[in-house]
Amino acid sequence: PRVAVVFGGRSSEHAISCLTAGSVIAAIDPEAYDVVPVGIARDGRWVLESGESDRLQIGSGGALPEVDATRPLIRLHQSGLVVNDAADVPSELGDVDVVMPLLHGPFGEDGTLQGLLEMAGVRYVGAGVLSSAISMDKHYMKVVLQSAGLPVLPHVLITPRGWTEDPEACRESVRALGFPVFVKPCRGGSSIGISRVDDESGLDAAVEAAREHDPRVLVEAGAGEGCRELECGVLESLDGAPQASVVAEIVVAGDHAFYDFEAKYLPDQDTLASIPADLPDDVADRVRAMALRTFAAVDAEGLARVDFFLQPDGTVVVNELNTMPGFTPTSMFPMVWKAAGIDYPALVDRLLRLALA
Ligand code: DAL
Ligand code: MG
Repeated sequence: PRVAVVFGGRSSEHAISCLTAGSVIAAIDPEAYDVVPVGIARDGRWVLESGESDRLQIGSGGALPEVDATRPLIRLHQSGLVVNDAADVPSELGDVDVVMPLLHGPFGEDGTLQGLLEMAGVRYVGAGVLSSAISMDKHYMKVVLQSAGLPVLPHVLITPRGWTEDPEACRESVRALGFPVFVKPCRGGSSIGISRVDDESGLDAAVEAAREHDPRVLVEAGAGEGCRELECGVLESLDGAPQASVVAEIVVAGDHAFYDFEAKYLPDQDTLASIPADLPDDVADRVRAMALRTFAAVDAEGLARVDFFLQPDGTVVVNELNTMPGFTPTSMFPMVWKAAGIDYPALVDRLLRLALA
């Protein structure tokens, strides 16, 4: 089968998507699949990428990779992928059997690309249009999870109109949550645009910082002193039944006020993942069951990573679900499956088979 691996994209997580793609392309069995690397440049242009994994890596000095926008332009067409104005490649790349949308964030993980692929009648890996859209928006995700009876942290939505017309009412509703709070762009990822706010003096700046990424802003109550951060992978098996992985814990140390972008991706950070997390069996089982309920509540498909907080009194709350979690070999999602005996190439193969089935 021919696989178009789509990566990069217009979101602030462009570089993370490139890292993911570099690893995935290298892991796809060339005997079994023909790979077409499709990069979406930061400005939204689609190009036929080289997909070289040694370039799609964090460079020396922490330089983040990006799609090479000088490559031949391509577009998606009902008859396949078509290359525009490029003398050195065939003008028709032809049909692809399946697309791997390895995109994080808006214009990729949010249902927009999935909608385009539905229109073009192309199969793709992962969640569909509605599920992707709900899961991308931290506010609507919580609405759906709450209605499914899943516990989430108290939160307040700040709309563009609310913030412009009555910021004091917004501040008042945040005060009611109690500090600290976490201020987040509703549709974002990798902690970009997120701030921890310890008292009211920092609130306005944090809202403005989040608004640079999304006019809709979510303010969440902190999970509390001593809370632990847990993550669990969900993967469909070939018969369609979703399975939950072992539970992992993230331990962030050093100067990070929380699990921020640097702690997530840059080398030499004091961030540790313990896999499996050191938890009583009943807590781990509860987390795994909640991960499956979360997956079902948003009608996800293929894969997802569900993130949780474990509070000191034993309460588990769902933080969020990612329908295209970070997917480098050192990302949490592949690592929790490795612990379950599914190595990275097998995981990639499973996702392709699920989409092709
Ligand atoms: N949004 C990033 C990629 C993650 O959740 O892993
Ligand atoms: Mg998260």
